[in-house]
Amino acid sequence: MILKPIKYLFSCLAVICLTAATARAQSVTFYENIQPIILNNCAVCHRPGEAAPFSLITYEDVVKRSKFIRKVVSTRYMPPWKADDHYVDFANNRSLDDSEIASIVAWIDAGTPKGKGNQKAEKALLERAEAGTAYERKPDLTLRMSEPFVQQGDGKERFMVFKVPFEMAAAANVEAIEFTSNNKKIIHHANFAIHPVEDATIDLYNTVTSVNLSGDSKSDYLQWLKYKKEMTYYGGWIPGATFETYPKGMGWVMPRRGVVLLTVHYGPSAIDAESINGVNFFFKKEPIEREVKVISLGSGGIGQKDITPPFMIFANEVKSFALRVANNQPDVSLLYAWPHMHQLGKSFKAYATKADGDTIPLVRIPAWDFRWQEIYRYKKPVLLPKGAVVHIEGTYDNTAQNPMNPHDPPELVLSEGSMRSDQEMMTLILMYVERKEEDSQLTFDWE
Ligand code: HEC
Repeated sequence: MILKPIKYLFSCLAVICLTAATARAQSVTFYENIQPIILNNCAVCHRPGEAAPFSLITYEDVVKRSKFIRKVVSTRYMPPWKADDHYVDFANNRSLDDSEIASIVAWIDAGTPKGKGNQKAEKALLERAEAGTAYERKPDLTLRMSEPFVQQGDGKERFMVFKVPFEMAAAANVEAIEFTSNNKKIIHHANFAIHPVEDATIDLYNTVTSVNLSGDSKSDYLQWLKYKKEMTYYGGWIPGATFETYPKGMGWVMPRRGVVLLTVHYGPSAIDAESINGVNFFFKKEPIEREVKVISLGSGGIGQKDITPPFMIFANEVKSFALRVANNQPDVSLLYAWPHMHQLGKSFKAYATKADGDTIPLVRIPAWDFRWQEIYRYKKPVLLPKGAVVHIEGTYDNTAQNPMNPHDPPELVLSEGSMRSDQEMMTLILMYVERKEEDSQLTFDWE
């Protein structure tokens, strides 16, 4: 008796689905079918101030480039998405499925019909772009550089660190953060560290405001050591990455006073280009029951010296490295995984093994591409029990056949733990909270 209505329901659904599919092939319109795909999967990069060379938001934006779009979605060149979804399917997976590609192609082949206009969604998105955020509302606090930095048009890359002091009336609970810039096109990547400075006798202002790590002022960095005794949080941006947000009850507390040290890697530019960068903060009233923490494994982090073999890649060789780091903390639940390599990177894999021999997949990038990196968001809390061993495996191609090789001819490449892109890194950054029993039942409700 119980089965009957269910069966009936299923056959009903099948009929509806079939009708919907036929209708779609006949009348795909921009506002009904295409706009949601574009806004969800393309506009994160293709909007004003972001990394892509043009906006894809309005009907006109998309129609203007429809032939090109047909090509890049059919070949799966766009949207770029490098993680192996069969290994781990992430919440922020923005690759298009077959039916989405088919809809875009059908729509273009039908002559890009507009459908019943509805500008609401694109207006909302443009407003946020104007406010310098991709998040659902305007930031509660933006900490920006005090003056713009000019990346000279001399074709040289630069590593700059900017100090942004802050003093608030009270500490605040963080719901989301994001890197913000008025000119992301000239930026390869950016990282920011938030350092609390409670000691009022330590002045936040009487030191340099910026340091050029690739230039003469490198030693000025020492002036900031007094701020660096503690670190509350660490975040970053790479093209395509958006805000970082925390599920209900989770987050971290922005200290009342301190400095943000913002490291920006500028790509080579042919013309002088100005940028003002900063960090947007979104606060929440609800208490933080579970503090989100960040850990960095590998180059520039824990286990750097244990990478085997020692991290050197001779000219003309393809070489693999591995690192194992045991979790000495109590059981944790992972929220995000952020793998990082530079231009020689070819593939990246991270997983954990438990004492009972079980394997926990963390992230796999079968064909690494320096241009398309991502902070990967898990759908559910991933359990990393105490004693589990995290394995990181990276393969690098230092031959002339690697079109991304920064050296021509190839040269010996090391990892100094510095961020220079002609050096290499093998790093996995993980964001996590302490495990709770209920996590095994939890699905994150990301934004
Ligand atoms: C992660 C950021 C990102 C996302 C997401 C993204 N793009 Fe792009 N796109 C770029 C960048 C950066 C370029 C320019 C560099 C390049 O072509 O490699 C680009 C280039 C393009 C080009 C020009 C290609 C060429 O050969 O010049 C088209 C067309 C395009 N994107 C369409 C799309 C469409 C359609 C989507 C969504 C289905 C999308 N993009 C999603 C970043 C992105």
